[in-house]
Amino acid sequence: MSFSQIGVVGLGIMGAGIVEVFARAGHHVVGVAESAAAVDAGKTNLSKSLARAVSKGKLSQEQSDEITSRVSFGEDFELLANCDLVIEAAPEILALKVDIFAKLDLAVKPSGILASNTSSLSVTDIANATSRPAQVLGMHFFNPAPVQKFVEVITTAHSDPQVVSEIVELGKSLGKHLAQISDQPGFIVNKLLLRYLNHAVQILDSGQASKEQMDAAMRELSGYPMGPCELLDLIGIDTCVEILKTIYADTKLEIDEPAAGMVKLVSAGNKGRKSGSGFYDYSEKPETPTDPNDDIKNQVHNDLLIAYLGDCIAMEATGYATKIDIDSGMKLGCGLPEGPFEVIEKMGLGTVRSAQAELSERTGVSAYQPLPL
Ligand code: CAA
Repeated sequence: MSFSQIGVVGLGIMGAGIVEVFARAGHHVVGVAESAAAVDAGKTNLSKSLARAVSKGKLSQEQSDEITSRVSFGEDFELLANCDLVIEAAPEILALKVDIFAKLDLAVKPSGILASNTSSLSVTDIANATSRPAQVLGMHFFNPAPVQKFVEVITTAHSDPQVVSEIVELGKSLGKHLAQISDQPGFIVNKLLLRYLNHAVQILDSGQASKEQMDAAMRELSGYPMGPCELLDLIGIDTCVEILKTIYADTKLEIDEPAAGMVKLVSAGNKGRKSGSGFYDYSEKPETPTDPNDDIKNQVHNDLLIAYLGDCIAMEATGYATKIDIDSGMKLGCGLPEGPFEVIEKMGLGTVRSAQAELSERTGVSAYQPLPL
């Protein structure tokens, strides 16, 4: 199948990033959003990202203009009629996505594939809103979409294997690494990442460490590109709360219940970078978080890392995902310097297990215990 025309619905940071990924790869892209203001915001997101690439010498002005010329924008779903693939990147609200897919089903030609960029919601529920569930998949990009090289392809019981393999080939042609996962809350990366981010805010809420201490700890001691509070601000704290609600509804574990510190920020309208402030203030470029207290940094680094490594071990051991997909997802989706299983290999599994037992005993959280041998 040729994917000459791609549609994207929703033009926030993720939607505009997905538009850019496809337009850069030579596809014609139609970007649709619900209002003129949202369309304008999408155009601005795209032009800012391209201008950044031009200013860094990564693209010439001519290349940037050529990319822009392949993109058209509008508010009407009818504009998507001839698209071979439409990717939805609307806010993380199931009722909204179901409504969008029912409308896409009517607007897009029968052979068109429909994909959701949902971060955790049920792709099966979304597919059921259409008359073509075999042609509906999850296609989950990571933020910033033009930078992160990982895409999760989420399949349902309805999925047509031919459609899945065409989407995987298309993703590869964009220079992405793809992992297939069946429809489960949080898929691979968000299931691990969101628990880690939530853990960080639980530590913050308990007063054991400041956001700067936590962010500096993960940057300095593990070489992460961002600390957890910075990353929550990048993703959008509101989005993270919604993802956690979905995961918590599935696991019923207290450690997955959205931490109070996040919920309070969202209620106050502080959703992260997109709203101008979250854990940090973005009215001017924030400084890289730093803190001289090595004891606290070592402690929070240990606790966040060990809980996360334990989750990775459990994810692989239960057959949920392979070591390769977990390592690739965390490195290529989140820019981590090493995959968790590379870290475990270096530390030794026995050391990680002992540290899990110590963490569980010290905090009283049984979910941190190592798996029984
Ligand atoms: N759009 C396009 N390109 C961008 C960009 C953006 N918003 N932000 C940064 N870039 C590009 C820059 O142009 C630069 O490109 P070159 O290397 O080609 O010059 C590169 O990214 C590095 O950018 P900077 O030097 O300006 O900044 P940095 O080194 O601090 O990197 C970052 C910024 C790429 C965001 C990096 O900090 C990072 O990888 N952070 C982790 C992000 C992450 O974990 N994302 C996944 C979140 S989970 C998710 O998205 C899924 C979900 O459902 C919630």
